[in-house]
Amino acid sequence: MPALVLIGAQWGDEGKGKATDLLGGAVDYVVRYQGGNNAGHTVVIGEEHYALHLIPSGILRADCVPVIGNGVVIDPGVLLSEMDGLAARGIDVSRLLISANAHLIMPHHRALDRVIERYLGKSRIGTTGRGIGPTYGDKVARTGIRVQDLLDPGIFRKKLELVLREKNQVLAKVYNRRRIELDEVCEEYAGYAKRLGPHIADTGLVLDKALRSGQVVLLEGSQGTLLDVDHGTYPFVTSSNPTAGYAATGAGIGPTKINRVIGIIKAYTTRVGAGPFPTELDDKVGEELRRIGGEFGVTTGRSRRTGWFDAVIARYAVRVNGVTDLFLTKLDVLSGFDRVPICVGYDIGGERVDEMPMTQTEFHHAKPIYTELPGWHEDLSGVRSYADLPAAAKDYIRALEELSGAPVSAIGVGPGRDQTLVINELV
Ligand code: GDP
Ligand code: IMO
Ligand code: MG
Repeated sequence: MPALVLIGAQWGDEGKGKATDLLGGAVDYVVRYQGGNNAGHTVVIGEEHYALHLIPSGILRADCVPVIGNGVVIDPGVLLSEMDGLAARGIDVSRLLISANAHLIMPHHRALDRVIERYLGKSRIGTTGRGIGPTYGDKVARTGIRVQDLLDPGIFRKKLELVLREKNQVLAKVYNRRRIELDEVCEEYAGYAKRLGPHIADTGLVLDKALRSGQVVLLEGSQGTLLDVDHGTYPFVTSSNPTAGYAATGAGIGPTKINRVIGIIKAYTTRVGAGPFPTELDDKVGEELRRIGGEFGVTTGRSRRTGWFDAVIARYAVRVNGVTDLFLTKLDVLSGFDRVPICVGYDIGGERVDEMPMTQTEFHHAKPIYTELPGWHEDLSGVRSYADLPAAAKDYIRALEELSGAPVSAIGVGPGRDQTLVINELV
Protein backbone atom coordinates (compact mmCIF):
# COMPACT_ATOMS: atom_id res chain seq x y z
CA MET A 1 0.00 0.00 0.00
CA PRO A 2 1.42 3.42 -0.89
CA ALA A 3 0.95 6.70 0.98
CA LEU A 4 -1.95 7.85 3.10
CA VAL A 5 -2.70 11.33 4.39
CA LEU A 6 -4.17 12.25 7.74
CA ILE A 7 -5.68 15.74 7.95
CA GLY A 8 -7.63 17.85 10.42
CA ALA A 9 -11.16 18.41 9.12
CA GLN A 10 -12.05 21.40 11.33
CA TRP A 11 -9.95 24.14 13.00
CA GLY A 12 -7.18 21.93 14.36
CA ASP A 13 -6.86 19.91 17.59
CA GLU A 14 -9.13 17.18 16.26
CA GLY A 15 -6.90 14.43 17.68
CA LYS A 16 -4.40 14.02 14.84
CA GLY A 17 -1.62 13.09 17.25
CA LYS A 18 -3.57 10.22 18.72
CA ALA A 19 -4.71 8.97 15.31
CA THR A 20 -1.18 9.19 13.89
CA ASP A 21 0.19 7.27 16.84
CA LEU A 22 -2.43 4.60 16.30
CA LEU A 23 -1.66 4.19 12.59
CA GLY A 24 2.06 4.63 13.29
CA GLY A 25 2.17 1.06 14.54
CA ALA A 26 1.39 -0.18 11.01
CA VAL A 27 3.44 2.17 8.81
CA ASP A 28 7.13 2.58 7.99
CA TYR A 29 7.39 6.37 7.81
CA VAL A 30 5.44 9.23 9.39
CA VAL A 31 5.98 12.59 7.67
CA ARG A 32 4.99 16.09 8.78
CA TYR A 33 4.40 18.06 5.56
CA GLN A 34 3.46 21.59 6.68
CA GLY A 35 3.15 23.90 9.65
CA GLY A 36 5.71 24.17 12.41
CA ASN A 37 5.71 24.39 16.17
CA ASN A 38 2.35 26.14 16.10
CA ALA A 39 1.07 22.54 16.23
CA GLY A 40 0.53 20.64 19.45
CA HIS A 41 -0.22 16.96 18.95
CA THR A 42 -0.99 14.90 22.04
CA VAL A 43 -0.29 11.21 22.38
CA VAL A 44 -1.24 9.35 25.53
CA ILE A 45 0.39 5.98 26.15
CA GLY A 46 -0.69 4.52 29.47
CA GLU A 47 0.25 7.10 32.10
CA GLU A 48 2.62 8.93 29.76
CA HIS A 49 1.49 12.12 28.00
CA TYR A 50 3.50 13.44 25.08
CA ALA A 51 2.95 16.84 23.47
CA LEU A 52 4.63 16.94 20.07
CA HIS A 53 5.11 20.22 18.23
CA LEU A 54 7.53 19.65 15.37
CA ILE A 55 8.48 16.01 15.54
CA PRO A 56 6.04 13.65 13.77
CA SER A 57 3.94 11.63 16.19
CA GLY A 58 5.46 8.47 14.66
CA ILE A 59 8.56 9.09 16.82
CA LEU A 60 6.78 7.18 19.57
CA ARG A 61 6.66 4.01 17.48
CA ALA A 62 10.04 2.30 17.50
CA ASP A 63 9.62 0.72 14.05
CA CYS A 64 8.83 3.79 12.04
CA VAL A 65 11.00 6.58 10.72
CA PRO A 66 9.82 10.11 11.52
CA VAL A 67 10.43 12.68 8.79
CA ILE A 68 10.11 16.47 8.82
CA GLY A 69 9.28 17.29 5.21
CA ASN A 70 10.27 20.25 3.04
CA GLY A 71 6.88 21.94 3.57
CA VAL A 72 7.46 22.40 7.31
CA VAL A 73 8.99 25.51 8.90
CA ILE A 74 11.52 24.64 11.59
CA ASP A 75 12.62 26.57 14.64
CA PRO A 76 15.85 24.65 15.27
CA GLY A 77 16.15 25.61 18.94
CA VAL A 78 12.63 24.36 19.59
CA LEU A 79 13.28 21.19 17.60
CA LEU A 80 16.41 20.39 19.60
CA SER A 81 14.71 20.93 22.93
CA GLU A 82 11.85 18.70 21.79
CA MET A 83 14.39 16.04 20.76
CA ASP A 84 16.20 16.36 24.10
CA GLY A 85 12.92 16.13 26.01
CA LEU A 86 11.97 12.91 24.24
CA ALA A 87 15.46 11.43 24.57
CA ALA A 88 15.33 12.11 28.32
CA ARG A 89 12.16 9.99 28.41
CA GLY A 90 13.89 7.11 26.69
CA ILE A 91 12.65 7.74 23.12
CA ASP A 92 15.17 7.08 20.36
CA VAL A 93 15.37 10.30 18.32
CA SER A 94 18.38 9.27 16.23
CA ARG A 95 16.04 8.07 13.44
CA LEU A 96 14.59 11.52 12.79
CA LEU A 97 15.14 12.82 9.26
CA ILE A 98 14.88 16.51 8.34
CA SER A 99 14.43 17.80 4.82
CA ALA A 100 17.28 19.98 3.55
CA ASN A 101 14.65 22.13 1.81
CA ALA A 102 12.56 22.97 4.87
CA HIS A 103 12.67 26.64 5.85
CA LEU A 104 14.10 27.89 9.12
CA ILE A 105 12.23 30.08 11.57
CA MET A 106 14.68 32.86 12.46
CA PRO A 107 14.67 35.27 15.42
CA HIS A 108 13.36 38.06 13.18
CA HIS A 109 10.38 35.90 12.21
CA ARG A 110 9.40 35.38 15.85
CA ALA A 111 9.86 39.06 16.63
CA LEU A 112 7.79 40.12 13.63
CA ASP A 113 4.98 37.64 14.34
CA ARG A 114 4.49 39.12 17.80
CA VAL A 115 4.79 42.77 16.85
CA ILE A 116 2.54 42.48 13.79
CA GLU A 117 -0.16 40.92 15.97
CA ARG A 118 0.20 43.75 18.45
CA TYR A 119 -0.20 46.34 15.69
CA LEU A 120 -3.30 44.58 14.38
CA GLY A 121 -4.96 45.32 17.73
CA LYS A 122 -8.58 44.20 17.71
CA SER A 123 -8.14 42.69 14.23
CA ARG A 124 -5.40 40.34 15.36
CA ILE A 125 -5.48 36.73 14.24
CA GLY A 126 -4.47 35.25 17.58
CA THR A 127 -1.43 33.49 16.19
CA THR A 128 0.68 31.20 18.31
CA GLY A 129 3.50 33.77 18.14
CA ARG A 130 5.96 31.18 16.89
CA GLY A 131 7.01 33.06 13.74
CA ILE A 132 5.01 30.83 11.37
CA GLY A 133 3.44 33.53 9.17
CA PRO A 134 6.59 35.62 8.63
CA THR A 135 8.63 32.48 7.82
CA TYR A 136 6.18 31.26 5.18
CA GLY A 137 5.96 34.84 3.89
CA ASP A 138 9.71 34.97 3.36
CA LYS A 139 9.68 31.51 1.78
CA VAL A 140 7.30 32.73 -0.91
CA ALA A 141 9.13 36.06 -1.20
CA ARG A 142 12.34 34.07 -1.78
CA THR A 143 14.14 35.62 1.17
CA GLY A 144 13.94 32.55 3.40
CA ILE A 145 16.82 30.61 4.91
CA ARG A 146 16.67 26.85 4.59
CA VAL A 147 17.89 23.88 6.60
CA GLN A 148 20.53 23.19 3.94
CA ASP A 149 22.01 26.63 4.57
CA LEU A 150 23.02 25.37 8.02
CA LEU A 151 25.50 23.11 6.23
CA ASP A 152 27.34 26.05 4.64
CA PRO A 153 28.18 28.71 7.27
CA GLY A 154 29.47 31.11 4.60
CA ILE A 155 26.21 31.03 2.65
CA PHE A 156 24.16 31.12 5.85
CA ARG A 157 25.90 34.32 6.96
CA LYS A 158 25.61 35.93 3.53
CA LYS A 159 21.88 35.24 3.28
CA LEU A 160 21.19 36.35 6.82
CA GLU A 161 23.21 39.54 6.39
CA LEU A 162 21.16 40.41 3.34
CA VAL A 163 17.77 39.80 4.96
CA LEU A 164 18.70 41.46 8.25
CA ARG A 165 19.49 44.65 6.35
CA GLU A 166 15.78 44.94 5.57
CA LYS A 167 14.30 43.21 8.63
CA ASN A 168 16.27 45.36 11.07
CA GLN A 169 15.04 48.50 9.36
CA VAL A 170 11.48 47.26 9.71
CA LEU A 171 11.91 46.10 13.30
CA ALA A 172 13.63 49.28 14.45
CA LYS A 173 11.99 51.96 12.34
CA VAL A 174 8.45 50.68 11.84
CA TYR A 175 7.92 48.76 15.07
CA ASN A 176 10.44 50.37 17.41
CA ARG A 177 11.96 47.00 18.29
CA ARG A 178 15.52 45.93 19.04
CA ARG A 179 17.75 45.18 16.04
CA ILE A 180 18.88 41.59 15.57
CA GLU A 181 22.64 41.05 15.68
CA LEU A 182 24.09 39.09 12.77
CA ASP A 183 27.02 37.63 14.72
CA GLU A 184 24.84 36.42 17.57
CA VAL A 185 22.44 34.61 15.26
CA CYS A 186 25.26 33.07 13.20
CA GLU A 187 26.83 31.70 16.37
CA GLU A 188 23.54 30.40 17.74
CA TYR A 189 22.61 28.67 14.48
CA ALA A 190 26.12 27.21 14.03
CA GLY A 191 25.48 25.34 17.27
CA TYR A 192 22.17 24.03 15.88
CA ALA A 193 23.88 23.05 12.62
CA LYS A 194 26.34 20.86 14.47
CA ARG A 195 23.61 18.96 16.26
CA LEU A 196 21.05 18.75 13.47
CA GLY A 197 23.58 17.98 10.70
CA PRO A 198 23.38 14.19 11.00
CA HIS A 199 19.59 14.30 10.58
CA ILE A 200 19.49 16.40 7.40
CA ALA A 201 18.58 14.36 4.33
CA ASP A 202 17.08 14.41 0.85
CA THR A 203 13.82 13.23 2.36
CA GLY A 204 11.85 13.23 -0.91
CA LEU A 205 14.31 10.72 -2.31
CA VAL A 206 14.22 8.60 0.84
CA LEU A 207 10.40 8.48 0.73
CA ASP A 208 10.31 7.68 -2.97
CA LYS A 209 12.65 4.73 -2.46
CA ALA A 210 10.53 3.53 0.45
CA LEU A 211 7.34 3.74 -1.60
CA ARG A 212 8.92 1.92 -4.53
CA SER A 213 9.92 -0.93 -2.26
CA GLY A 214 6.34 -1.29 -1.00
CA GLN A 215 6.75 0.45 2.35
CA VAL A 216 3.89 2.49 3.79
CA VAL A 217 4.18 6.24 4.30
CA LEU A 218 1.77 8.21 6.50
CA LEU A 219 1.61 11.96 5.92
CA GLU A 220 0.61 13.69 9.18
CA GLY A 221 -1.08 17.04 8.72
CA SER A 222 -1.10 19.73 11.35
CA GLN A 223 -3.73 22.45 11.94
CA GLY A 224 -6.92 21.81 9.96
CA THR A 225 -8.92 22.46 6.80
CA LEU A 226 -10.53 25.69 8.05
CA LEU A 227 -7.07 27.05 8.96
CA ASP A 228 -5.77 26.45 5.42
CA VAL A 229 -4.45 29.63 3.81
CA ASP A 230 -6.40 28.85 0.60
CA HIS A 231 -9.44 26.97 1.85
CA GLY A 232 -9.87 28.25 5.40
CA THR A 233 -11.49 31.26 7.01
CA TYR A 234 -8.96 33.73 5.58
CA PRO A 235 -7.41 35.86 7.03
CA PHE A 236 -8.06 33.95 10.29
CA VAL A 237 -5.93 31.03 9.16
CA THR A 238 -2.41 29.75 9.44
CA SER A 239 0.11 30.47 6.67
CA SER A 240 0.37 26.98 5.18
CA ASN A 241 -1.85 24.41 3.45
CA PRO A 242 -2.93 21.68 5.87
CA THR A 243 -5.33 20.25 3.25
CA ALA A 244 -4.48 16.93 1.63
CA GLY A 245 -3.54 18.40 -1.74
CA TYR A 246 -0.41 19.91 -0.25
CA ALA A 247 0.71 16.68 1.42
CA ALA A 248 2.52 15.50 -1.72
CA THR A 249 4.26 18.84 -2.25
CA GLY A 250 5.22 19.24 1.41
CA ALA A 251 6.64 15.72 1.60
CA GLY A 252 8.25 15.77 -1.84
CA ILE A 253 6.42 12.79 -3.33
CA GLY A 254 4.10 12.51 -6.32
CA PRO A 255 0.36 12.89 -5.67
CA THR A 256 -0.31 9.62 -7.50
CA LYS A 257 1.31 7.77 -4.58
CA ILE A 258 -1.51 8.80 -2.23
CA ASN A 259 -4.50 6.49 -2.15
CA ARG A 260 -6.23 7.31 1.10
CA VAL A 261 -7.13 10.50 2.91
CA ILE A 262 -8.23 10.18 6.53
CA GLY A 263 -10.11 13.16 7.92
CA ILE A 264 -9.80 13.52 11.68
CA ILE A 265 -12.97 15.13 12.97
CA LYS A 266 -14.15 15.89 16.48
CA ALA A 267 -17.69 14.91 17.53
CA TYR A 268 -18.17 18.64 18.26
CA THR A 269 -16.20 21.71 17.15
CA THR A 270 -13.40 23.77 18.67
CA ARG A 271 -11.30 26.70 17.55
CA VAL A 272 -8.32 28.56 19.07
CA GLY A 273 -7.65 32.18 18.14
CA ALA A 274 -9.88 34.69 16.37
CA GLY A 275 -12.23 34.27 13.41
CA PRO A 276 -15.79 33.22 12.57
CA PHE A 277 -17.25 30.09 14.17
CA PRO A 278 -20.98 29.67 13.43
CA THR A 279 -21.78 26.95 16.00
CA GLU A 280 -19.82 28.55 18.83
CA LEU A 281 -21.51 28.22 22.23
CA ASP A 282 -20.81 31.23 24.38
CA ASP A 283 -22.72 29.79 27.32
CA LYS A 284 -22.76 27.12 30.03
CA VAL A 285 -23.00 24.31 27.48
CA GLY A 286 -19.88 25.58 25.72
CA GLU A 287 -18.19 25.75 29.10
CA GLU A 288 -19.23 22.13 29.78
CA LEU A 289 -17.79 20.95 26.47
CA ARG A 290 -14.53 22.75 27.29
CA ARG A 291 -14.36 21.23 30.75
CA ILE A 292 -15.31 17.66 29.82
CA GLY A 293 -13.27 17.69 26.62
CA GLY A 294 -10.24 19.31 28.30
CA GLU A 295 -10.23 21.94 25.56
CA PHE A 296 -7.13 23.92 26.42
CA GLY A 297 -4.36 24.47 23.87
CA VAL A 298 -1.34 22.15 23.92
CA THR A 299 0.94 24.85 22.48
CA THR A 300 -0.21 28.10 24.07
CA GLY A 301 -2.43 26.89 26.92
CA ARG A 302 -5.27 29.11 25.65
CA SER A 303 -8.89 28.07 26.20
CA ARG A 304 -10.38 26.61 23.06
CA ARG A 305 -13.69 28.02 21.85
CA THR A 306 -16.30 25.26 21.69
CA GLY A 307 -19.50 24.52 19.78
CA TRP A 308 -21.69 21.79 18.32
CA PHE A 309 -20.77 19.67 15.30
CA ASP A 310 -21.02 21.60 12.05
CA ALA A 311 -21.94 19.32 9.14
CA VAL A 312 -21.50 22.11 6.58
CA ILE A 313 -17.83 22.25 7.55
CA ALA A 314 -17.56 18.47 7.61
CA ARG A 315 -18.98 18.23 4.09
CA TYR A 316 -16.64 20.97 2.91
CA ALA A 317 -13.62 19.23 4.46
CA VAL A 318 -14.59 15.94 2.81
CA ARG A 319 -14.82 17.76 -0.52
CA VAL A 320 -11.62 19.85 -0.49
CA ASN A 321 -9.48 17.05 0.91
CA GLY A 322 -11.03 14.15 -0.99
CA VAL A 323 -11.55 12.40 2.35
CA THR A 324 -11.98 8.63 1.97
CA ASP A 325 -12.45 7.87 5.68
CA LEU A 326 -13.43 9.87 8.73
CA PHE A 327 -11.85 9.23 12.11
CA LEU A 328 -14.38 10.59 14.59
CA THR A 329 -12.75 11.62 17.87
CA LYS A 330 -13.96 12.51 21.36
CA LEU A 331 -17.38 10.87 21.03
CA ASP A 332 -17.07 10.06 24.75
CA VAL A 333 -17.18 13.80 25.57
CA LEU A 334 -20.80 14.02 24.38
CA SER A 335 -22.11 11.54 26.97
CA GLY A 336 -24.54 13.19 29.37
CA PHE A 337 -26.30 15.66 27.09
CA ASP A 338 -30.05 15.06 26.77
CA ARG A 339 -30.10 16.29 23.19
CA VAL A 340 -27.22 16.68 20.77
CA PRO A 341 -27.70 19.33 18.08
CA ILE A 342 -25.97 19.04 14.69
CA CYS A 343 -25.68 22.06 12.44
CA VAL A 344 -27.04 20.97 9.06
CA GLY A 345 -27.04 24.30 7.22
CA TYR A 346 -26.79 28.05 7.71
CA ASP A 347 -29.27 30.86 7.67
CA ILE A 348 -27.56 33.74 5.92
CA GLY A 349 -29.67 36.89 5.69
CA GLY A 350 -32.87 34.82 5.79
CA GLU A 351 -31.76 32.35 3.14
CA ARG A 352 -30.91 28.72 3.80
CA VAL A 353 -27.43 27.70 2.68
CA ASP A 354 -26.20 24.10 2.69
CA GLU A 355 -22.65 24.58 1.42
CA MET A 356 -19.75 26.61 2.73
CA PRO A 357 -20.60 30.12 1.48
CA MET A 358 -18.42 31.65 -1.20
CA THR A 359 -17.45 34.79 0.70
CA GLN A 360 -16.13 35.44 4.20
CA THR A 361 -18.74 38.17 4.68
CA GLU A 362 -21.48 35.57 4.26
CA PHE A 363 -19.67 33.13 6.57
CA HIS A 364 -19.38 35.82 9.24
CA HIS A 365 -23.17 36.21 9.11
CA ALA A 366 -23.98 32.49 9.02
CA LYS A 367 -26.43 31.40 11.73
CA PRO A 368 -26.54 27.66 12.34
CA ILE A 369 -29.66 25.66 11.52
CA TYR A 370 -29.79 22.69 13.87
CA THR A 371 -31.35 19.31 13.86
CA GLU A 372 -31.46 17.71 17.32
CA LEU A 373 -30.78 14.07 18.06
CA PRO A 374 -31.46 12.33 21.37
CA GLY A 375 -28.34 12.12 23.53
CA TRP A 376 -27.01 9.24 25.62
CA HIS A 377 -25.81 9.05 29.20
CA GLU A 378 -23.60 5.96 29.20
CA ASP A 379 -19.88 6.44 29.75
CA LEU A 380 -18.20 5.42 26.49
CA SER A 381 -14.60 5.39 27.67
CA GLY A 382 -14.61 1.65 28.30
CA VAL A 383 -16.41 0.66 25.08
CA ARG A 384 -14.18 -1.36 22.77
CA SER A 385 -16.43 -2.31 19.89
CA TYR A 386 -18.92 -0.42 17.74
CA ALA A 387 -21.62 -2.94 18.56
CA ASP A 388 -21.44 -2.00 22.25
CA LEU A 389 -22.18 1.69 21.67
CA PRO A 390 -25.58 2.97 22.89
CA ALA A 391 -28.17 3.14 20.09
CA ALA A 392 -28.35 6.94 20.34
CA ALA A 393 -24.58 7.24 19.83
CA LYS A 394 -24.83 4.98 16.77
CA ASP A 395 -27.62 7.17 15.38
CA TYR A 396 -25.45 10.24 15.94
CA ILE A 397 -22.54 8.63 14.04
CA ARG A 398 -24.83 7.58 11.19
CA ALA A 399 -26.21 11.11 10.93
CA LEU A 400 -22.68 12.58 10.77
CA GLU A 401 -21.74 10.08 8.08
CA GLU A 402 -24.74 10.90 5.95
CA LEU A 403 -24.39 14.64 6.35
CA SER A 404 -20.62 14.61 5.75
CA GLY A 405 -20.61 12.27 2.78
CA ALA A 406 -17.82 9.98 3.98
CA PRO A 407 -17.79 6.80 6.08
CA VAL A 408 -16.71 6.89 9.72
CA SER A 409 -13.98 4.26 9.83
CA ALA A 410 -12.74 4.79 13.38
CA ILE A 411 -14.14 6.30 16.56
CA GLY A 412 -12.25 7.69 19.53
CA VAL A 413 -13.76 7.14 22.98
CA GLY A 414 -10.84 8.45 25.03
CA PRO A 415 -7.29 9.75 24.66
CA GLY A 416 -5.57 6.39 25.23
CA ARG A 417 -4.07 4.16 22.56
CA ASP A 418 -6.64 1.43 23.22
CA GLN A 419 -9.64 3.79 23.25
CA THR A 420 -10.45 3.56 19.55
CA LEU A 421 -13.16 1.55 17.82
CA VAL A 422 -12.00 0.55 14.36
CA ILE A 423 -14.82 -0.08 11.89
CA ASN A 424 -12.78 -0.24 8.66
CA GLU A 425 -9.04 -0.96 8.88
CA LEU A 426 -7.20 2.20 7.89
CA VAL A 427 -3.82 0.75 6.92
P1 GDP B 1 -4.19 17.43 17.47
O1 GDP B 1 -3.56 18.78 17.46
O2 GDP B 1 -5.15 17.24 16.35
O3 GDP B 1 -3.19 16.33 17.58
O4 GDP B 1 -5.07 17.38 18.80
P2 GDP B 1 -4.62 17.87 20.27
O5 GDP B 1 -3.66 16.88 20.82
O6 GDP B 1 -4.21 19.29 20.23
O7 GDP B 1 -6.01 17.84 21.03
C1 GDP B 1 -6.76 16.69 21.12
C2 GDP B 1 -6.95 16.33 22.61
O8 GDP B 1 -7.96 15.36 22.73
C3 GDP B 1 -5.73 15.73 23.26
O9 GDP B 1 -5.71 16.10 24.61
C4 GDP B 1 -5.96 14.22 23.12
O10 GDP B 1 -5.30 13.47 24.10
C5 GDP B 1 -7.43 14.16 23.29
N1 GDP B 1 -8.13 13.07 22.57
C6 GDP B 1 -7.87 12.58 21.32
N2 GDP B 1 -8.81 11.68 20.97
C7 GDP B 1 -9.69 11.63 22.00
C8 GDP B 1 -10.90 10.91 22.23
O11 GDP B 1 -11.39 10.14 21.40
N3 GDP B 1 -11.54 11.15 23.42
C9 GDP B 1 -11.05 12.00 24.37
N4 GDP B 1 -11.74 12.17 25.49
N5 GDP B 1 -9.92 12.68 24.17
C10 GDP B 1 -9.25 12.51 23.01
P1 IMO C 1 -2.68 21.51 15.63
O1 IMO C 1 -1.74 20.87 14.65
C1 IMO C 1 -5.37 24.82 16.50
C2 IMO C 1 -4.26 28.75 14.88
C3 IMO C 1 -3.85 29.83 15.85
C4 IMO C 1 -4.35 31.06 15.10
C5 IMO C 1 -4.06 30.70 13.64
C6 IMO C 1 -2.77 31.29 13.10
O2 IMO C 1 -2.34 21.24 17.06
O3 IMO C 1 -4.09 21.18 15.28
P2 IMO C 1 -0.20 30.68 13.46
O4 IMO C 1 0.65 30.68 14.69
O5 IMO C 1 -0.28 29.35 12.78
O6 IMO C 1 0.15 31.78 12.49
O7 IMO C 1 -1.70 31.03 13.99
O8 IMO C 1 -4.00 29.29 13.60
N1 IMO C 1 -3.49 27.48 15.01
C7 IMO C 1 -3.98 26.35 15.52
N2 IMO C 1 -5.17 26.09 16.10
N3 IMO C 1 -4.47 23.83 16.33
C8 IMO C 1 -3.28 24.06 15.74
O9 IMO C 1 -2.42 23.08 15.44
C9 IMO C 1 -2.97 25.38 15.33
N4 IMO C 1 -1.91 25.97 14.74
C10 IMO C 1 -2.25 27.25 14.53
O10 IMO C 1 -4.49 29.68 17.10
O11 IMO C 1 -5.73 31.17 15.24
MG1 MG D 1 -3.27 20.44 18.70
